[in-house]
Amino acid sequence: MTDTVSRETGAAGEAGAGGHRVEGTDKVTGAARYAYEHHVPGVVYGFPVTAPVARGTIAALDAAAALARPGVIAVLHGGNTHPLGGQDFELSLFERTEVSYRGQLVALVVADTLEHARAAAAAVRVDYQPGEHDVTLRADHPGLYRPEKVNPSLPADTGYGDVAAGLAGPPRGGAGARVAVTYTTPVQHNNPMEPHAAIAAWDSAGEHGAGVLTVYDTTQGPSADRDTIAEVLGLSARQVRVVSPHVGGGFGSKGTTRPHAILAAVAARATGRPVKVALTRQQMFTLTGHRTPTIQRVELAAGPDGRLTAVTHDVIEHTAMRTEFAEQTAACTRVMYGTPAMRTTHRLARLNVPAPSWMRAPGETPGMYALESAMDELAVALGLDPVELRVVNDPPAEPDGGLPFSSRNLVACLREGAERFGWAGRDPRPAAARRGRWLSGTGVAASTYPARRRPSTATARLTRDGYTIRIAAADIGTGARTALRDIAASVLDVDTERVRVILGYSALPDAPLAGGSMGTASWGSAVAAACAALLKDGEYGSADTTDDVAQDEGWARHSFGAQFAEVLVDPATGEVRVPRLLGVFAAGRIISPVLARSQFIGGMTMGLSMALFEETAVDPSAGAFVRTDLAQYHIATCADVPSVEAFWIDEDDPHLWPGGGKGIGEIGITGTAAAIGNAVWHATGRRVRDLPITPAKLLSEEPHSAPGGRRGADGSGE
Ligand code: MOS
Repeated sequence: MTDTVSRETGAAGEAGAGGHRVEGTDKVTGAARYAYEHHVPGVVYGFPVTAPVARGTIAALDAAAALARPGVIAVLHGGNTHPLGGQDFELSLFERTEVSYRGQLVALVVADTLEHARAAAAAVRVDYQPGEHDVTLRADHPGLYRPEKVNPSLPADTGYGDVAAGLAGPPRGGAGARVAVTYTTPVQHNNPMEPHAAIAAWDSAGEHGAGVLTVYDTTQGPSADRDTIAEVLGLSARQVRVVSPHVGGGFGSKGTTRPHAILAAVAARATGRPVKVALTRQQMFTLTGHRTPTIQRVELAAGPDGRLTAVTHDVIEHTAMRTEFAEQTAACTRVMYGTPAMRTTHRLARLNVPAPSWMRAPGETPGMYALESAMDELAVALGLDPVELRVVNDPPAEPDGGLPFSSRNLVACLREGAERFGWAGRDPRPAAARRGRWLSGTGVAASTYPARRRPSTATARLTRDGYTIRIAAADIGTGARTALRDIAASVLDVDTERVRVILGYSALPDAPLAGGSMGTASWGSAVAAACAALLKDGEYGSADTTDDVAQDEGWARHSFGAQFAEVLVDPATGEVRVPRLLGVFAAGRIISPVLARSQFIGGMTMGLSMALFEETAVDPSAGAFVRTDLAQYHIATCADVPSVEAFWIDEDDPHLWPGGGKGIGEIGITGTAAAIGNAVWHATGRRVRDLPITPAKLLSEEPHSAPGGRRGADGSGE
C-alpha cells in the first residue's frame, strides 16, 4: 500500500483569498476522494443482510442459494466468522442469535460486483422465531428508568431550592404566571450527503495476526476510528490505518465507528481481498444512529416582573435494548436562566430500536426547543416581551452549580438581534397580522452550547517551501484544514500560503474527533503549541495538550445566541414559510469568518428543517422506522431558506484556549425550532407542541394545537 499521507498536498496556493477552503478546488473539480472512491486493485463488494423483525431469535440461516449465485465469494455470518470484541453491541456483528431491533445485521454477502452482492443478499434465507417488540415511547412506559449519567458524563437528575413553593409562588389570580407544558420531538436522522462507506484492505498475504489493515473510511475522528476497529477485530492499534482525507458531512453520525467499516474489515480478513461496503440511504436509517425522540415536561413560574420563581424540565427518551445512549436533553436548562428553584430529570425506556446516537448538538437541540418554547408561552402568559423576559432572567453565574461564566453575552445577542431584525414595536397579539393571504408572525428564542476541548497532539515542521502541520484531525466539511492553517500561520507569523496542513489519517499525530464543537479548540491548541515549539527549535515542534486541557476547570464555558424568525402561514392549507431567519451569536473569537458563517447558517437551516420537516416515523406494528429515504424524510432545501443571516459578537474571553474560540459547529441549530414555533404561534394563535409543525397539525383541532399558556396559575394549555 502506498503511503497515502504523502499525496495529501492540498492546494495551498489559492487558499489565502477571502478565507476560501484549502481543498475547495479539489472538491469542486472532483479531485478530492471520499471513502468509497479510493482506487484499490482487486476490490470486491459486500452487501449486508438485515433482520426484518424487531425482536426474535435466528432459528436457521441457509446461505446455499446465495452462494450458488453468480460472482458470490462468501456469505459471512455468526456461524462462520470469529467473534468480535469491543464495548459496542452495534459493532459486535453476527455473534448473536438474538435480534433486538429491525434492521440489525445478520450476514454479509461478498461478491465480485455490487449488483451480484446485492442480488445474492436477497437470496440468503434466514428463519426467525419472532418475539413481541415494543418501539413506542410513552410518558407512562412501565420500563422507564433513571440512567447513571447522561452524556457526556452529567448527572441524570439535578435540583436545588424549593420547586413546589416556587411553582406555587405567583399567587393564583395574581399578575404572575405559570406554564406547565409538554413538548415532544420525533426520531430524527443525521443524513449527511456522503453515505457511510469503507474499503478495507490487508497488506500482502492478508493473514490475520500479521500485516496491516488499511481502512478507507468516512469518519469524524481517524484516531478513535483506528482504535475502535483494532479493538473490535482483536488487533493492535499499530496494525490498523485509517485513511479519511475528505468526509462529506457527519453531523455526529460518523463520530463513532459504524458497522460498515467493521463489515468491510471482517470481510477483507475472511476473503483475503480488499472489500468495499457502502450503506444504502435506507440502511443508514438503522445502522448509523439517530436522535432519540423526546417527551419533555417543562414547568415555569414567574412573578409579575418576569423573574422566574421555579423551573422544571423532565425528559423522557428512548434507548436500545443492548446499548444505553442517554441524551442530555435537560442539560441546557441548567445553564440558561436564573431561578431560586430548579429540577431537571432524565428517564429512559429501552425499546426494540437501533441505538440512538450523536446528532448535531445532542441534548441542546431538543432541550432548547422545549425550554425556549415554554419561555415564549410564559412571556405570553405574563404579557411581557419575550426578549425582555430572557433579559430579566439572565443569571450572574451558572444557575445549577454556581460556576462563574467565563463570558456570557446572551443579552448582547438578544439586543443586537432585536435591533437587526427590527423587533421593536412588534404587536404581541397573535393572529393579528396578514400579508396577502398569509398570516404573518415573528418569534425569538435563545441558543446555547458548551465550549470544551480535549487533549490533542500535533507536529509542525519547516520544509523547503514553507511549514507542514500534521494532525489526525478530520475535516467533515467544516473547513478544519483552512482554520488550522490560519491558526498556524498566525503563530508562525507567516503568510497562510506558506502553511500546509495534513489531516485525515490515523498515521498522523493522535487527535480527538470533530465533534461536540470541540475540533478547532482541541486541534488548534495543539497546532498553536507545536508552532510555538518550532519557533524555539527553528525546524520542528511537537505538542501534546493533555496537561493544558486538564487545567480547564473552574469556569462555566458556553456559547450563547439569539435567533429571530419571521413566518408566513397559509390559513387554508397550513403551509408554513420562513422568509427570514436571523441569528446573533457570542462564541468567543471567530477564527475564520467565512467558515464560521457557513457553520452558523448551516446549523440554523438544520434547525428550520427540524421545526417544519424532519421526522422519522415509527411504525408500532412493524417495529420499524419508516419513510427511510430522502424522498420521504424531508430536509430543508435552498427554496425553504430564502434568507438566513448570521452575525456574531466577538468575545475576548481569557478563560478559553489561546485561540479564543468557543466552537461554532452546533450552536446554530439550538433554539431555531423554538424561534420558528414561537413565530407560528404569533402568526396563528396556535401552539403546536409536537415537532415537526406540519400543516396537518396546524389545521387540526387536537390538543397539541391548543392556545398557549394562559395568564394565571393554571396556564397549562393542555
Ligand atoms: Mo457532533 S453530534 O458532536 O458530532
